Amino acid sequence: MSKEFVSFMRRRVSAATLDIPAPNKAEWRTILDAASRAADHGNLKPWRFRVYQGEARAQIGEIYWQHAKAEVPELPEDKKAGFVKKAYRAPAILMVYANVVEHPKVPRDEQIMATAAAAQQALLGLDAYGFGGIWRTGPACFTEQTKQLLGLAPNEEVVGLIYCGTPTQDLVYVGDTGIDDRLTFVDE
Ligand SMILES: Cc1cc2nc3c(=O)[nH]c(=O)nc-3n(C[C@H](O)[C@H](O)[C@H](O)COP(=O)(O)O)c2cc1C
Repeated sequence: MSKEFVSFMRRRVSAATLDIPAPNKAEWRTILDAASRAADHGNLKPWRFRVYQGEARAQIGEIYWQHAKAEVPELPEDKKAGFVKKAYRAPAILMVYANVVEHPKVPRDEQIMATAAAAQQALLGLDAYGFGGIWRTGPACFTEQTKQLLGLAPNEEVVGLIYCGTPTQDLVYVGDTGIDDRLTFVDE
C-alpha cells in the first residue's frame, strides 16, 4: 500500500467555498462506489446517497427555511430567500443518510457510524478527483419535519449534507492535528 495515500489523507481539508464543476454522474458513481467500502458491521450497507444539484437544491433550502419557521413562527415570508440561498453555496449537495434496520447484532448507533464512515470516504474521494467538499449539518437536519420534507422513511436518518464542487480558494494545510495530545499507546 502506497504511503502517498497516507500523506493524501493527512493533507485533507474541507473546502468552504465551492463552485462548478461538481462531479458528473459517472464521477459520482465512482466516488460513491468507493465510499461504499466503508467499514460496515454485518454488511448491512446502511448508507444511502442522494445528490441535489441545480434547482433541486431548493429542496434543501426549504428544510432550512421550514426549520427556522418552526423555531420562530413569526419570521416574515420575505426572509425565506435568505434561508433557501444557503443551499446554493455549492453546485451540489451530497446527502448521506442511514437506512436503519432492526438487527440482532448491529445496533442503530453502529449503523449510523458506518454511514458516517461512508461520508468521510466520500470526502476523500472528492479530494482525490480534484473536487472539494465540506460536511455541514445542523439542527435542521435532524427533525421529523425535515425527514418528511425530504421524503425519508421513519427508519432513515440524515447523517450529513456534504457541500461539493471545486474549491475556489487555496486550501490551507493543517500543520498540527494535535495527535500528541490525543494518542495513548497501552503497551503493558
Ligand atoms: C458531523 C459534522 C457536522 C458538521 N457540520 C458543520 C456545519 O453545519 N457547519 C460548518 O461550518 N461545519 C460543519 N462541520 C465541520 C466541517 O465539515 C469541517 O470539518 C470544519 O470546517 C473543519 O475543517 P477541516 O475539515 O478542514 O478541518 C461538520 C463536521 C462534521 C463531522
